[in-house]
Amino acid sequence: MTQDNAFISIRHVNKFFGSFQAIKNVSMDIGHGEFFSLLGPSGCGKTTLLRMLAGFEAVSSGEIYIDGQPMSGVAPHHRPVNMVFQNYAIFPHLNVRDNIAYGLRKLKLSRSNRNEMVDEMLELIKLPEYGDRKATQLSGGQRQRIALARALILKPKVLLLDEPLGALDKKLREQMQLELRALQRTVGITFVFVTHDQEEALTLSDRIAVMSEGRDLQVDTPTRLYENPVNSEVASFIGTMNFFDGVVTSIKGDTVVIKVDGLGEVSAPAGKVSLLAGDSVSVAIRPEKFSLTDEKPDDVQYCVKGHLDNAAYLGERSHYYVRVEGVSQPVAVSAQNRNRTGEAEDRKRPVWLGWDSAAVVVLKDD
Ligand SMILES: Nc1ncnc2c1ncn2[C@@H]1O[C@H](COP(=O)(O)OP(=O)(O)O)[C@@H](O)[C@H]1O
Ligand SMILES: [Mg+2]
Repeated sequence: MTQDNAFISIRHVNKFFGSFQAIKNVSMDIGHGEFFSLLGPSGCGKTTLLRMLAGFEAVSSGEIYIDGQPMSGVAPHHRPVNMVFQNYAIFPHLNVRDNIAYGLRKLKLSRSNRNEMVDEMLELIKLPEYGDRKATQLSGGQRQRIALARALILKPKVLLLDEPLGALDKKLREQMQLELRALQRTVGITFVFVTHDQEEALTLSDRIAVMSEGRDLQVDTPTRLYENPVNSEVASFIGTMNFFDGVVTSIKGDTVVIKVDGLGEVSAPAGKVSLLAGDSVSVAIRPEKFSLTDEKPDDVQYCVKGHLDNAAYLGERSHYYVRVEGVSQPVAVSAQNRNRTGEAEDRKRPVWLGWDSAAVVVLKDD
């Protein structure tokens, strides 16, 4: 995605509230029809960026382009966007139909035309029988669907969603995630979705912008964020990551050899970071990339002996924590319980950790 084929282009945007800088030189390009998420901890600037896209906040400097047009000075209701909020702002005194039709009231539409549009929306959110219900007689998930319909009936080119599922409990939220993704595919418009929940972002998004303290750290697909994080902040924010300290001993083409504390000499794909012999680096390995065996493994490139410190049985998976001499933190290992027979296992025992070169991610933090 480049500025040229982007539907939304955010270029060098800064935002100050008084002397406090909430957004720091953020640039990103969002494609037409993309499900794009802003992901980061509370306070990192997600809502501020979304409100600037909507036009509720002005940029302090930089520019936002939507559909090729600069948005500076363009009022919210003249932008081709609509917004859905976390606390589904639906009107309790109106029924479902009137809630959905709310945004149409200023347009000169015939009654039959308006009814047709509402019917289409009720169909889209799979609540065709609910038109005459009062908004107060709905579950949280249903209310959020009404809020979506109310935003979509105006046919925006971009839907902005600020933690829209945040108020729902876990099970309902997971169900709504699937519905939201299906809905986005049906309507085919661009969604910019804000969440602090990395699993939610990974499930839903075509691409994700990981943010921290007003900056965009990395904009990438879920797979690339997970497999090729640009730094340890992104790596630890997306899923669980084991970090080891190491020093580069040699580089040969795309392969780098690193002497890693506790793991010994390990070769790894060099990736995008530019490295020199003698550089201090972080070596990162995901928990599921390790194998854990009682006997020394012969099907991996590298292995090291350790001592199982703890284990947690989670049904489909188990999490293990392994002490390795020379490594300060226990190494987290995650394994699928494919062959477990049901008997309890010894949670304190000598074990072997195995891994392959391809599992190693080399990070250099400045
Ligand atoms: N209107 C405002 N005035 C002053 N500070 C603000 C205002 N809005 C947001 N902030 C600050 O900007 C930072 C980013 O806020 P926000 O965008 O709401 O974060 P997020 O949505 O990621 O949780 C926070 O430190 C917040 O306190
Ligand atoms: Mg927010």
